[in-house]
Amino acid sequence: MTERTVLIAQISDLHIKPPGQLAYGRVDTAVALERCVAALNEFRPRPDLVVISGDLADTPTVEEYEHLKRLLAQLELPFVSIPGNHDSREMMRAVFPHAFALRAGPLNQTIEIRELDLVLLDSSVHGKPHGELDAPTLQWLEKALAASPDRPALLFLHHPPFRAGIWHMDRQNLLNAAELALLVRRHPRVQLIATGHVHRAALTMFAGVQTTICPALNHAVDLDLAQLRQPSFKVEPPAFHLHSWFAGEGFGSVVTHQVPIGQYDGPHPFFGPDGKLL
Ligand SMILES: [Fe+2]
Ligand SMILES: [Fe+2]
Repeated sequence: MTERTVLIAQISDLHIKPPGQLAYGRVDTAVALERCVAALNEFRPRPDLVVISGDLADTPTVEEYEHLKRLLAQLELPFVSIPGNHDSREMMRAVFPHAFALRAGPLNQTIEIRELDLVLLDSSVHGKPHGELDAPTLQWLEKALAASPDRPALLFLHHPPFRAGIWHMDRQNLLNAAELALLVRRHPRVQLIATGHVHRAALTMFAGVQTTICPALNHAVDLDLAQLRQPSFKVEPPAFHLHSWFAGEGFGSVVTHQVPIGQYDGPHPFFGPDGKLL
């Protein structure tokens, strides 16, 4: 790893409740976030930034965001966030004023980290589970991408712009994905589109760009590809995504690692003191 490498940790779908309350009466999302924060604090080398890709709160209420703020106070890394369908722009602005200044409208922003640009898009639609990039956001994105055509850019938004094959999630993904695809195809500097919302890892190609879904820290949407069950969740191993951008030819390259959260056996050496494979 060189000094030019950029490491972005992505966590998603925190669904923080008021203290003492469980999500769906079953999942302690606060404990899940505490575990994740400890894992991020321990990870070496330290990521440059943590992106929280939506569904920070659950209902949402101010009490949930205040709880979230206390939990995130333990995080030793800088973080940014975008809203999901469980969020409120206004409450996020009020609780994290340093992050969003006093701008009105969608919480879109660009962040420069050395040679890399991050573009955070607000795909939330007030009161609706699906996502949509409204006209001002699409115009803003076109302008943001056109501003620095020679710099690589990673896009983050909550709602995946593709079908994951899980019927009840596919009807609430990014509704105007075709408009995003047209825009992305005009800007070859986009190297990754990173999303959340489905609470489980997936990857595909979208508009010629590698596109990912980050798993949740708490509960996963059941992988029901045949519409066998009512919408359901399972508590599966939690993880975060680590997007590593490496400088190189053209726009460089990006790889996404899925990092499990928890205590696992190891690391153990492959080789003994004599240098031979054990
Ligand atoms: Fe979610
Ligand atoms: Fe969501």
